[in-house]
Amino acid sequence: MNNQTKTRVLKFHVFKYNPLDCNDTPKLKTYEIEETPGMTIFVALNFIRDRLDHTLQFDFVCRAGICGSCAMVINGTPTLACRTLTSSFPAGEITLLPLPIFELIGDLSINTAKWMNDMSKDVKSWIHTQEQTNIDNIEKPMEPDIADEVFELDRCIECGCCIAACGTKRMRPKFKGAVALNKIARYALDPRDERTLEDMYEIIGDDEGVFGCMSLLGCDDTCPKHLPLQIKIAYLRRKMVQLK
Ligand code: SF4
Ligand code: F3S
Ligand code: FES
Repeated sequence: MNNQTKTRVLKFHVFKYNPLDCNDTPKLKTYEIEETPGMTIFVALNFIRDRLDHTLQFDFVCRAGICGSCAMVINGTPTLACRTLTSSFPAGEITLLPLPIFELIGDLSINTAKWMNDMSKDVKSWIHTQEQTNIDNIEKPMEPDIADEVFELDRCIECGCCIAACGTKRMRPKFKGAVALNKIARYALDPRDERTLEDMYEIIGDDEGVFGCMSLLGCDDTCPKHLPLQIKIAYLRRKMVQLK
């Protein structure tokens, strides 16, 4: 490193709260650490936990933007901590909050798995077919362009950023959200799923589903996999309006 180059000191303001401790209250705790080249929020949080605060809770599995478990609100934006470089914050002040909406386990750790599991059951997000499931019909050929579209929507990692960034979800707790509507769009495309659009309408054809979306676009802006959420929601809405 050039002798002239000064190492930055980063100031992290991190949400701390243990909801199981009735004597605890939510607060922001500040930690100062030296930035290293290529440092991500993931690296910084591990440094803080190793050297400064062994009690700090946060979630990581893959460290590669695949598992979705490290989503948190970083300087106001829901995103993945393992894919966010500290260098993207020139002021060197970084505030970390847990994603809202989801059950808080402690500090930055939230229970997205329970929410996603309930949502998947709610929108029946699996292939519905009368055919006997065996390896032959699972592997039935599919038009390449349809397979590409299905694959595109299947890239959702259930991180929860689209839910945390959605103003409608804040106002209407039962709103299913972009992740759920994306799943319906995915199964509506899949030729192995025998459900009709009318069947899908039964699941999302109301204000808790596709007609609740107010096109606020927070989902589109924050999805770390850049899924075409708004386009798919608009498509479903157009199709379902015709069934009304
Ligand atoms: Fe995350 Fe995008 Fe899936 Fe929403 S749609 S859960 S933002 S990957
Ligand atoms: Fe919410 Fe996305 Fe619609 S942010 S309101 S689901 S466009
Ligand atoms: Fe898996 Fe960040 S740790 S997406």
